[in-house]
Amino acid sequence: MLRIYKKSDYESMSRQVANLIAAQVTLKPKSVLGLATGSTPNGAYKYLIESCKQGDLSFAEISTVNLDEYVGLAPDHEQSYRYYMNDNLFNHVDIKLENTHVPNGLATHPTQECLQYEQLIADLGGVDLQLLGMGHNGHIAFNEPSESYTKITNVVDLAERTIQANSIYFENDVNKVPKQAFTMGIGSIMRARKIVIAVSGAEKAESLVKAFQGPITPSLPASILQVHHDVVLVADEAALSKF
Ligand code: PGA
Repeated sequence: MLRIYKKSDYESMSRQVANLIAAQVTLKPKSVLGLATGSTPNGAYKYLIESCKQGDLSFAEISTVNLDEYVGLAPDHEQSYRYYMNDNLFNHVDIKLENTHVPNGLATHPTQECLQYEQLIADLGGVDLQLLGMGHNGHIAFNEPSESYTKITNVVDLAERTIQANSIYFENDVNKVPKQAFTMGIGSIMRARKIVIAVSGAEKAESLVKAFQGPITPSLPASILQVHHDVVLVADEAALSKF
């Protein structure tokens, strides 16, 4: 089932996403949250930090698993997703850092890292709420358009468009953007009990309408969400302008 929240702008989209996560955390304090990085969830994390500081929310018993990480970046690299999570959320709320998980970008045995990450998710009892963004090309996590869906955490080559989009975080130099990433697979994402996908901006409108109203195809990875039983799409008017 799909529920759509159409919000006027990025700020109100962010508040809505934060409200959904806060509801999950409040109703099930031991939840496993699947978290995302990038510019989209940033605003929601700010609202969650605020609620936590005001004493309205506690992450003390929460566990988290992140969707992805760049291959080759150390956890303390400013553009690594571990750094992003610590900086944008974990360091400002009462979560126990040992209960937060991001794939290890420096893993020497990538295949083993992928299997261990998948096992970790299973050992935690699966993801209760998975937060997703969507790339301009319809990717979710780093599952780029391709000919088939990946089942579990794996290592992928990033698409040119993704490298281009993410170069803003690497001094606008595409050569500095890592070319590969660990990512939870489409299967790993689809196993989450609830999915919240946040999308903002007119430049994603075309992919967004195709994802939810077009054919289900790995060439537009987000389209698979049409068959998940509990998806909430929170988007601003610009992103929903072609619906
Ligand atoms: P963004 O990335 O939030 O930085 O636009 C979304 C994504 O690539 O999943």
